[in-house]
Amino acid sequence: MTTPHNHRLFIETVGCQMNMLDSELVVAALRKQGFELTADVDAADTVLFNTCSVREHAEHKIYSALGRLKHSKKRRPQQVIGVIGCMAQKDQELIFKRAPHVDLVVGTGQLAQIPDLIAASREKRESRIAISLDRTEATRREISDSFQSFDPLRDPEMRPSPYQAFVRIMIGCDKFCTYCVVPMTRGPEQSRPPKHILQEVRQLANEGVKEVTLLGQTVNSYKHTEDGRLWRLSDLLAAMHDTPGLERIKFVTNYPRDMTRDLLEAVRDLPKVARYLHVPAQSGCDEILKRMKRGYTIGQYRDMFGLIQEIVPDCAVSSDFIVGFCGESEESFQKSMDCVREFRFKNSFIFKYSPRPGTKADDNLPDDIPEDVKRRRNNELLDLQNEISEEDNARLIGREFEILVEGASKNEQKRGSADEAAADFQTAKIQLSGRTRCDRIVAFEGNRRLIGSLTRVHVTDCTPTTLLGMVVTQEVQHGSSSLLPILT
Ligand code: 5AD
Ligand code: SF4
Repeated sequence: MTTPHNHRLFIETVGCQMNMLDSELVVAALRKQGFELTADVDAADTVLFNTCSVREHAEHKIYSALGRLKHSKKRRPQQVIGVIGCMAQKDQELIFKRAPHVDLVVGTGQLAQIPDLIAASREKRESRIAISLDRTEATRREISDSFQSFDPLRDPEMRPSPYQAFVRIMIGCDKFCTYCVVPMTRGPEQSRPPKHILQEVRQLANEGVKEVTLLGQTVNSYKHTEDGRLWRLSDLLAAMHDTPGLERIKFVTNYPRDMTRDLLEAVRDLPKVARYLHVPAQSGCDEILKRMKRGYTIGQYRDMFGLIQEIVPDCAVSSDFIVGFCGESEESFQKSMDCVREFRFKNSFIFKYSPRPGTKADDNLPDDIPEDVKRRRNNELLDLQNEISEEDNARLIGREFEILVEGASKNEQKRGSADEAAADFQTAKIQLSGRTRCDRIVAFEGNRRLIGSLTRVHVTDCTPTTLLGMVVTQEVQHGSSSLLPILT
């Protein structure tokens, strides 16, 4: 069947893993309606931007992209342009004011309506907006109901990798850190019923998925009561652990205060669960943490870190930091440096503070750290983290790890597209990449047949972000393993 011209979809996704999952699901729903994806925005009759509001920069990029579409829209007035996700919920009608050629504004809680909204907008040639209630606009129940989790049955063809999938276990956030827009853009914290999650994981594993990453803004705050029983994240992990075909389970992002003993014991006792925890500290300075309303002191973070080390000693921990938050003195910043030195995170994501309208920090605290100071602090913290990551990676040289092979490495992808029709496509040696159970990236040579498998790799070298290695082949007869060139 040829696809009608008006069913070509271009979608651009920015932001976090939650957005990647949302896009996957929106695309799957639209494909069911006969849409076909195109990478060429000029060839598309429907253009969607799935947006992020966490920092101003991400929003600028979208407004610039929208600006560039103004003329193409004039040439083809039937084109439907949609802004979906966090920025849609945050900016609402403002998007039509700043970009009057936009047809659709659809918040994170209305993604299920997108196919209907596109059809209606095309038919009636008028703009549509579908968003949730603001967090102060109604009762908690009403606001929660206006944010619908979008988790339809999934289309395996739409995943970037057939072996890995995201699974949403909760939406929203109630922590209200003073810098953060997420409680507004994603609404109140709501955990999905375990039955739905477990069914989704089973289905994914049946389709060949080896690794699921459970998603939540504060994933370890997961709580759901079903038939009188309270389910915590540890219960969910235990219940999905024996799913046939499933090899690995990860979960992000953790909130330090909700890191409980039962969860760490589940990580310790369940072999398929990654020995990896992303637990953002955000700052190493108590005063700043208080101003951020993070709900812990660095001493309490230290206790939490100690608990991780006591229960799961081989666990890798990563963090996020914000530099240049309101009132961050040089001394406060040095405490973040100390924090990276003390905890030796596997890696850290470091961000310059970006004031976000609608947040407590933006309302009450001046953004008083100059941009060049923020930039310098960002570089210093990153340099320190890279130094530590490289030192810790270097200690792993000579060791062997079980890797879940994810696909061609970034370098390989940059080298250009391989010819899938070539006779040796599956067997030619390329650079592959995968991750250890501690979430460390490993690059090594191998053939495409290894993608999706668990493979043992011997580490021979490293960079701050990547371990480099060679595949270990088992000599079955002797029961020992040795380093051999990869069989092609
Ligand atoms: N400015 C800079 N970084 C932010 N983050 C969240 N809000 C802001 C902001 N206003 C960072 C936090 C969070 C990560 C996803 O983004 O570090 O953990
Ligand atoms: Fe934002 Fe804080 Fe919620 Fe994380 S815990 S999403 S930083 S408000």
